[in-house]
Amino acid sequence: MKSTDRFALFVFVRARARALALAALLLTLATSGAQAGTAAIASAHPQATRAGEGVLAQGGNAFDAAVAVAAALAVVEPYASGLGGGAFFLLHRAEDGRRVMLDAREVAPVAATPGMYLDAAGEQKGRLSLDGGMAAGIPGVPAALAVLADRYGRLPLSRSMAAAIALAEDGFDVDPRYVVAARFREEALRADQRAAAIFLREGRVPEVGARISQPALARTLRALAEHGRAGFYEGDVARRLVAGVRAAGGIWEERDLAGYQVIEREPARFAYRAATVTTASLPSSGGLVMGQALRILETFELAALPATERDHLVVEAWRRAYQDRARYLGDPGFVCVPRALGSPEYARERAGSIDSQRATSSQALEGLHPALREGGNTTHFSIADAQGNLVAATLSVNLPFGAAVVAGDTGVLLNNEMNDFAIGKDQPNAYRLTGGAANAIAPGKRPLSSMAPTFVDDARGTLVLGTPGGSRILSMIMLGILEYVDRPGVDAERVVSLPRFHHQYLPDRLEYEPGQFSDAWVQALRDKGHTVQEGRRRWGNMQAVFVDAKTGQASAHGDPRGRAGVLF
Ligand code: GLY
Repeated sequence: MKSTDRFALFVFVRARARALALAALLLTLATSGAQAGTAAIASAHPQATRAGEGVLAQGGNAFDAAVAVAAALAVVEPYASGLGGGAFFLLHRAEDGRRVMLDAREVAPVAATPGMYLDAAGEQKGRLSLDGGMAAGIPGVPAALAVLADRYGRLPLSRSMAAAIALAEDGFDVDPRYVVAARFREEALRADQRAAAIFLREGRVPEVGARISQPALARTLRALAEHGRAGFYEGDVARRLVAGVRAAGGIWEERDLAGYQVIEREPARFAYRAATVTTASLPSSGGLVMGQALRILETFELAALPATERDHLVVEAWRRAYQDRARYLGDPGFVCVPRALGSPEYARERAGSIDSQRATSSQALEGLHPALREGGNTTHFSIADAQGNLVAATLSVNLPFGAAVVAGDTGVLLNNEMNDFAIGKDQPNAYRLTGGAANAIAPGKRPLSSMAPTFVDDARGTLVLGTPGGSRILSMIMLGILEYVDRPGVDAERVVSLPRFHHQYLPDRLEYEPGQFSDAWVQALRDKGHTVQEGRRRWGNMQAVFVDAKTGQASAHGDPRGRAGVLF
């Protein structure tokens, strides 16, 4: 299929979604007689969207559709997520209004140690936390699919995963985003014989339209579909995974897999003006970083300000909230994160340190706050079904193609999520994020994440959204929330396509998407003392669903960057 045909397919998928939604609506009205809404799915790949739609058409709910979409993405977006990776699934169950986050983040193996990636001088040992078996945490996605099916869905895994298994067996066609991802990781993929055989062609990045079949992954998907969690974490597949990881230099043991647990957590909740935001809680930094930044920004009359004045305040709020990410946040099972971080008083104090005319240097902010000493690549999809169930899910293997290693003959591409830990003092990770003791490596610990599947509720309805993008995930979602809440008339379509800028405390620089901001905007922020830098490319691939509170109608909105071949 030509790339233009592929992009046309997104449009087709939208139209098809509406037809399916109508079928689902009629089905619901016929069976319950109740007022019902419509369904919508927004994902990064048309074949994953189609897998979810198929499950809805078979009577599955949004949670079954989430299984289908996640399993299909594991096949057709191997560079972004997969059985070898982790995820956060934010769920809204219509029957009782329950909102919960399934934490399927990877955990460090039992044999992991704080200094495992450092040499005697405290420097990183090559690319051990990025490439190869040592980089991989114990995956959570397969366990999450089983939890979704067993506790929330209506269909067995074998039904919800059928489309993914077929895609792995029959193959999918390389698209422009695959080419960008494979070029980014070409060398690492070439270094692993199995990864190269599956994802490259004679050691080179395949061309658009080349077919990628994954029969070994199909067998592993089938084991999970037939036997549930035990089909992956125990028995034959588990033994082969461990053997494959150890052959690639890793340290997994069978007890790591047997002991893996999805944790059902309370999501983070906070208000931003008239809207309520529900998003990922720790070990995602999403709730605390976005909550603090938006609480700081709520103390200013942003809507009345010119764009550069507003954007200066936005950057200053991000500087402070990302600083606290580095200082205090980590897996809540291992570290005590200061409660004050989430308080309005703390946000007001942080807001008080902002000079509305001058940038604060990030260096000047350094040091632990006296009141807080108690305590340091990816894909997204959004789903609404006709019954009002919602799913926002962000899934990752970290860098494109994760660790670029396939575990033995399982077809499972390993993650390199261990790089999300603070791997040494002053050692930034692949997203240039730094961190402290709270995010140090420990056996069984989950690395701090930026993945933040989010719901925004206000009088208009519910916006379900999220995006890949590492450390930029949080600034992208916050820009979306700010526009959606503060500017009348901004809808979901605008939220996913907004021009983006980013600041994360360190490095101390304000980056913006090329060609999206005027020279006057750049100069005005430079005049306030910001180091302003044009990014090399646009970023993000936000996938949103909007459910209208009055009509129950759901609509899907995909980021134009994804359709244009932007990776993350
Ligand atoms: N691996 C990216 C994140 O979890 O933030």
